[in-house]
Amino acid sequence: MSTQKKKIRPGKNAANRVREQDTIYGAQPLPSAVPLRFVDLFSGIGGFRLAFERAGCECVFSCDWDKHSQITYAANFGETPVGDIRAVASSEIPAHDILCAGFPCQPFSIAGVSKKNALGEAHGFDEKKQGNLFFELARIIRDRRPRAFLLENVKNLKNHDKGRTWQVIHKTLTDDLDYTVYHKIIDAQSVVPQHRERIFIVGFDTHRYFEFPQFPKEGPKLASILDPHPPAKYTLTDHLWEYLQNYAAKHKAAGNGFGFGLVTGESVTRTLSARYYKDGSEILISQGAGKNPRRLTPRECALLLGYPPSFKIPVSDTQAYRQFGNSVVVPVVERVAKAIVETLQQPAEYKPDLVLQVNERRRHH
Ligand SMILES: C[S@@+](CC[C@H](N)C(=O)[O-])C[C@H]1O[C@@H](n2cnc3c(N)ncnc32)[C@H](O)[C@@H]1O
Repeated sequence: MSTQKKKIRPGKNAANRVREQDTIYGAQPLPSAVPLRFVDLFSGIGGFRLAFERAGCECVFSCDWDKHSQITYAANFGETPVGDIRAVASSEIPAHDILCAGFPCQPFSIAGVSKKNALGEAHGFDEKKQGNLFFELARIIRDRRPRAFLLENVKNLKNHDKGRTWQVIHKTLTDDLDYTVYHKIIDAQSVVPQHRERIFIVGFDTHRYFEFPQFPKEGPKLASILDPHPPAKYTLTDHLWEYLQNYAAKHKAAGNGFGFGLVTGESVTRTLSARYYKDGSEILISQGAGKNPRRLTPRECALLLGYPPSFKIPVSDTQAYRQFGNSVVVPVVERVAKAIVETLQQPAEYKPDLVLQVNERRRHH
């Protein structure tokens, strides 16, 4: 058996990289002599990348077609993701151990769903993939066979399109692509002061025992990320504040739940959406009686998604709100990434509880 270890190559722009220790949520890099390689698909601004790098992995490919996200990604990682995934041949994607993707959620055509076992049929796969981005992922998984994948999506994925979307995704990953699949909905509020539920789907090419990581019971409060001196431009104008209050009152009178989300330093916010730039009504920071509330600054949004304070924001406020609203919560993915790496470092049939039993038995003798 060769004892030669693959060298960890510093990235081209290592100096530009976000420093691992530079985080307010206490990330610790996971040491790994031989870094597992991962690809960052639908990369956005690199939430998966930060997380997997902290888990000791090395990014070998990134892809996102949004020009503004590419600018943020390049500023932070020294690399511009390639564009439209539909134009990327599987052979252009370097070999990798782990495929990561926070893919957009789209309905599948009825024709595609009702066609049983279409993936197994000649050409069926290519017919089904028409226009649907999940099938771009399935194509790459099929062609490159990563040892593991981590997919992320909105909590509602399982109910989307009356459950059909999930049915197709699950069947494709398990029956058609032959991966062992685990999934879990995780609420980020145990690691950042934001209620944000997302579904995480983990798959292994050989049968493996996997457990999602444990998360703390109590998370941080908003005060931990608030800027003590936010620029005045983030305070709502009298006009907008009055409008939002009237709008909320009207809906309350009609028996609807809609309202703005007024929070203080003691709170945990609602989910930051990609539309936050519009009026910011889902998260408004109270500034005390007699002063209009304000919206979060882009930097506060970055912290709310668990990005380190050194993360560069080279785009307009509008684009920054969109980018963070679309992002994964970095410390959530980081924990899942570490669990995946630890699982891959074990022999395929490794079961933690069996090892525990053996150790306990040893101790008694
Ligand atoms: C939900 S966001 C993922 C955000 C990312 N996980 C992060 O942490 O920043 C989905 C991304 O898919 C990208 N996207 C959509 N269609 C695409 C396509 N055809 N090719 C490449 N990227 C695409 C969007 O630009 C968007 O950034």
